[in-house]
Amino acid sequence: MAISRRALLRLTGAGALAGTLPALARGAAGSGGMRGLPWAYGALDPDATGDRAFDGYQRGHCMYGAFEAIAGQVAERLGPPFVSFPFEIFTYGGCGVNGWATLCGALNGSAAAFQLLSAKPEPLIDALFSWYEREALPNYVPAAARFRNLPSRAGSPLCHASIAAWCRGAGKRSYSPERQERCGVLTAAVARQAVVLLNAQAAGKVLETGLSGTTAACMACHEKGGALEDIRSKMSCGGCHRVLAREHPTVP
Ligand code: HEC
Ligand code: HEC
Repeated sequence: MAISRRALLRLTGAGALAGTLPALARGAAGSGGMRGLPWAYGALDPDATGDRAFDGYQRGHCMYGAFEAIAGQVAERLGPPFVSFPFEIFTYGGCGVNGWATLCGALNGSAAAFQLLSAKPEPLIDALFSWYEREALPNYVPAAARFRNLPSRAGSPLCHASIAAWCRGAGKRSYSPERQERCGVLTAAVARQAVVLLNAQAAGKVLETGLSGTTAACMACHEKGGALEDIRSKMSCGGCHRVLAREHPTVP
């Protein structure tokens, strides 16, 4: 079965999967005080954000670390009442939500910051998550880090895949001090990249939100509008479905 070029474009192009949920009204920047979304954003310093995220991670884990580093700086610029935002709610996201190792907390916290600070958070999420799947991370190490850090590639937005890949590469245990620090460094790298993306969007640049060609090919049959339409996901398929059934159609 061949996939039409149109179907592929539909899946990979801008706006794919949009419109599946009713959009909540997003107010004009700053119009509703702390409740008006998005909060007014002006470019932040990526490295300073990474360092602050590393620091925050020590107090409240990865999701809190990433979110607080980004939104906390904006809140400080905006002053009261923004500074009294209860940042601590995001400590629940530690280790992929209370140790369940689902979505990496650094991604979850960054996505929450996008939702708070951008009128168009969806392309930011896609750009950050596909970057995280693809890159050897961390690509930024705060000066305060004590251990030498080995970059590893998660191939997935999941905490579980990221920690397993790192433990395998680094030859360290998952409850070691090195792994603990490594997730702080990863939080720094992710929050840093989130700010690079926020800055780019605020400057009117087009973001690279691409899924891998193989994942797009899988989605063309299994995702929205495909012949089967039996799943919903943008995650890289190959990380989990390494072997397909013998009778599975050939994937282009
Ligand atoms: C040309 C269309 C097409 C493409 C492209 C495609 N699939 Fe499928 N896939 C199918 C069909 C048809 C079935 C069989 C469905 C059934 O029996 O209900 C299937 C079944 C599956 C199954 C269940 C059976 C098995 O093999 O384990 C999985 C998992 C799956 N596909 C994953 C993938 C992944 C991952 C990709 C990309 C690498 C992919 N598919 C690309 C059409 C496609
Ligand atoms: C994090 C791991 C993971 C990723 C990533 C993932 N899947 Fe799955 N997938 C599963 C699990 C677990 C199931 C349910 C168990 C099963 O049926 O094998 C499943 C089920 C499926 C099924 C139904 C299988 C059946 O037997 O009918 C299809 C089709 C499928 N996935 C396709 C995809 C495609 C396409 C992608 C990429 C867009 C993808 N999956 C990404 C883990 C994953």
